[in-house]
Amino acid sequence: MKVAVHIKRFNPEKDFAPNWVSYQVEVEPGDRVLDALHSIKSYQDGTLALRSSCAHGVCGSDAMQINGLNRLACKTLIRDVGEQITVEPLKGFPVIKDLVVDMDGFFEQYRAVRPYLVNDEQPPADERLQLPQERARIEDTARCILCASCTSSCPSFWANRAFVGPAAIVNAHRFLFDSRDRGSHERLDALNSRNGVWRCRTIFNCNAACPRDIRITQAIGETKRALLLQP
Ligand code: SF4
Ligand code: F3S
Ligand code: FES
Repeated sequence: MKVAVHIKRFNPEKDFAPNWVSYQVEVEPGDRVLDALHSIKSYQDGTLALRSSCAHGVCGSDAMQINGLNRLACKTLIRDVGEQITVEPLKGFPVIKDLVVDMDGFFEQYRAVRPYLVNDEQPPADERLQLPQERARIEDTARCILCASCTSSCPSFWANRAFVGPAAIVNAHRFLFDSRDRGSHERLDALNSRNGVWRCRTIFNCNAACPRDIRITQAIGETKRALLLQP
């Protein structure tokens, strides 16, 4: 089948404003949007810029707006989006070129919540054990692949790019509720800041945008509650 792929292209070094460019691409219905984009780049216009790596929904590098929704191009089948496909970069981040956005601010906000295990206690001889039910507590948020779809879909983030954003809160949650972690005080302090978790107005866009179906608003609610209940 033939599909029309309309891509919002922009090179800030040369263009005054973004412009839409359309490509006709021969694809199979079971192909992914990422296949169509690679076909355009390989056979029609090598100047098209996009990020991708694993092509299997694991690395989180090819999140973009497809027909107006944030999705991973490698997990979006052509047959699910139709013969007219619009592709745009993630909203809310500066465009470096075409579909490639600047993620520096996103990862700075991620690092601010200390997204790693903090525990200065003497380690046991073999390993820090965890019960199955303790692991289950962080099962959902541990599945984040840092694609930024949630943060990019959040109106609170659009209004204030300094808001730490749902992705960082999800990753804070993953360690806040880890039975082996002892760093919750500093982590909660970071989230209690002016641009921390309270900027979330429970708009719910983030839940719908997540390709891993993580219950983001629930994680944010639990993080707010942890802040209120901390001694
Ligand atoms: Fe992506 Fe979901 Fe992680 Fe947000 S929570 S960064 S949407 S995987
Ligand atoms: Fe934004 Fe999600 Fe909260 S869309 S306002 S982070 S519930
Ligand atoms: Fe890795 Fe799509 S290329 S998630």
